Amino acid sequence: MKKNSPIAKLITFTVNGKEFTRYVIQSMLLIDLIRDELGLTGTKTGCLEGECGACSVLLNGAAINSCLFLAINVEGHEITTIEGFSTGEKMDEVQTAMIQNGAVQCGFCSSGMAVSIKSMQTRSRNESRIPTRHEIQKGLEGNLCRCTGYIKIIEAAGEILNK
Ligand code: FES
Ligand code: FES
Repeated sequence: MKKNSPIAKLITFTVNGKEFTRYVIQSMLLIDLIRDELGLTGTKTGCLEGECGACSVLLNGAAINSCLFLAINVEGHEITTIEGFSTGEKMDEVQTAMIQNGAVQCGFCSSGMAVSIKSMQTRSRNESRIPTRHEIQKGLEGNLCRCTGYIKIIEAAGEILNK
């Protein structure tokens, strides 16, 4: 990035617990910052129209579509991608539940699904309330899967959210 570009801005933000400072152009999408600038390719590029959820990441704990979010707006905020879920070799409980419930096939949707489940888990804990199966389905309706038929993903989410 050309540092003296009139359309670039220096921003500082946190990704997976690590602080970054980068020049970003005003039109850059968050998904491009994450994948191309930071090399975190666990977040997938799908429709780029806010329809598939493959690009989902957590912004301060809540799921967003990174294909619809301008990178410049992450200044001062905390992003978590799927790479931030595991600790070394140890998987996060959402990832473990998805694997143990057979909720992963080709895997293209899986990081987005895990992000949405994590977002629901955070909200559920904040509200001290376990979501119903219908609410879990609604919470995942922004994430498309071509492989699993959704049942196993909903069961994995249910296991996590009922803990
Ligand atoms: S790539 Fe963002 S919603 Fe499909
Ligand atoms: S596991 Fe293949 S798209 Fe969901």
